[in-house]
Amino acid sequence: MPQTIAVLDFGSQLTQVIARRIRECQVYSKIYHYSTPAAKLREEGVIGIILSGGPQSVYAKKAPHPDPAIFTLGVPVLGICYGVQLMGHFLGGKVAHSKEREYGHGHLTIKQPGRLFAGLPRRLRIWNSHGDKLTKLPPGFRATAISENSPFSGIEDAKRRFYGIQFHPEVFHTERGTDMIRNFLLGICGARQDWTTRDFIAQAVARIRAQVGKSRVILGLSGGVDSSVAAALLHKAIGRQLTCVFVDNGLLRKGERAYVESLYQRNFHIDLRVVDASATFLRRLKGVTEPEQKRKIIGRTFVEVFEKSLKSIGHAEFLAQGTLYPDVIESVSIGNNPASLIKTHHNVGGLPERMKLKLVEPLRELFKDEVRAVGSALKLPREVVWRQPFPGPGLGVRVMGGITPENLEILRNADAVLQEEMMASGYYYKVWQSFCVFLPVRTVGVFGDERTYDYVIALRVVESIDAMTADWAKLPHDLVQKISSRITNEVRGVSRVVFDVSSKPPATIEWE
Ligand code: XMP
Repeated sequence: MPQTIAVLDFGSQLTQVIARRIRECQVYSKIYHYSTPAAKLREEGVIGIILSGGPQSVYAKKAPHPDPAIFTLGVPVLGICYGVQLMGHFLGGKVAHSKEREYGHGHLTIKQPGRLFAGLPRRLRIWNSHGDKLTKLPPGFRATAISENSPFSGIEDAKRRFYGIQFHPEVFHTERGTDMIRNFLLGICGARQDWTTRDFIAQAVARIRAQVGKSRVILGLSGGVDSSVAAALLHKAIGRQLTCVFVDNGLLRKGERAYVESLYQRNFHIDLRVVDASATFLRRLKGVTEPEQKRKIIGRTFVEVFEKSLKSIGHAEFLAQGTLYPDVIESVSIGNNPASLIKTHHNVGGLPERMKLKLVEPLRELFKDEVRAVGSALKLPREVVWRQPFPGPGLGVRVMGGITPENLEILRNADAVLQEEMMASGYYYKVWQSFCVFLPVRTVGVFGDERTYDYVIALRVVESIDAMTADWAKLPHDLVQKISSRITNEVRGVSRVVFDVSSKPPATIEWE
């Protein structure tokens, strides 16, 4: 049984980010409902408690309150944001109610480092997001840090090992926030650093087994990082109880289907059903040129095909999804509420309810880089673990204008050349995405002694952190030259290659 840090969740969407920071310190934590009885925490051997933030006021009618006995367990407590107000409220301080939320960057000045701020510079940039404010310290406490808006930005009762911070140490915008959390875990709680990816995998395997028992689980495999890691993890947990479905929508890249088949069937011995629905997709897309229309047709057809394939596979009780905890930290931007930026994943919209399937989402607490670490530990190849994002509608949004088998073939061949060269040069792993776009524009060229009148391929290679903004990648000229001459020489139907030098915004990464 690992030593456990309890994170009591008072409804902040940053609670998972706190848990992630704790994992970064290789310490084991568990998120508990805010009302969990102190006795249960004691039973579970909790060695420290973190009170999360939350959207409420401690004075609100239905404000979430913890079991007051958590303050008598004798273990260290760190209150973050709403967590500090709770400490004020329960331990005899005063909290002023405010209708306005204080939001955004601030500056912390550390007056008394104590153990929480040990080893940190005296002035740090911090991120605030709170309504109420502590106005009087509870007995036994002293202020350790101030900010422009609060004389109680950091507080402590070192004797009882109670610590409070008014700002959010877990978000990226707070300088050295992880060090504060580490100080709490190691310096104050005395936690051991023994929680690794392998432990996560072992725990996830046990959880999956407990959740699904002997039932059948179905997973829609796209070949992307998330569904691939979910498949490998589920397979480790339940072996042949897992059936993966891979839909060939006719909009895949060259060799993609064969690659997926060989990796998962031959390497991992996963029960993989490949459904070839390319004819249906291409028939429905015939003559459609409007991007949104294409997306809708592809999305709808996918759900239909997937649903039909489930029926043919036979009874299953669970649908597995590679849902991740979204990249909240990278998405936090000044003036925006981090919480409002969280996206929910519903890859197969409405399907679980309609099919009466229960969901298994073994990655839902993880962030992308953690999922990659899990994938590597499960021995998925590097090209899967570090695969660039690929849109659900596939090449359907990379063939401009009407989608025909001929245009798809040209795009596939050109794209294969680009990927080969990106891999060979190592640039595949240095950029965010690299792909070709087919332009249904014919231009004049000359090949040998012959005049040609062929299509244009655009190279789209971008750098980005989160796909919200992007810039075109400054690839070496000799690499671009090699890609261009190989495409015009080797791909029939292309006489011209152009390089897209637009950033996002105002352009988007994909052309449609
Ligand atoms: P844009 O083109 O909006 O793309 O700058 C941002 C990121 O999202 C990917 N993308 C999609 N992914 N379904 C997906 O699963 C889609 O319909 C879709 N459209 C764009 C795109 O490849 C880029 O990484």
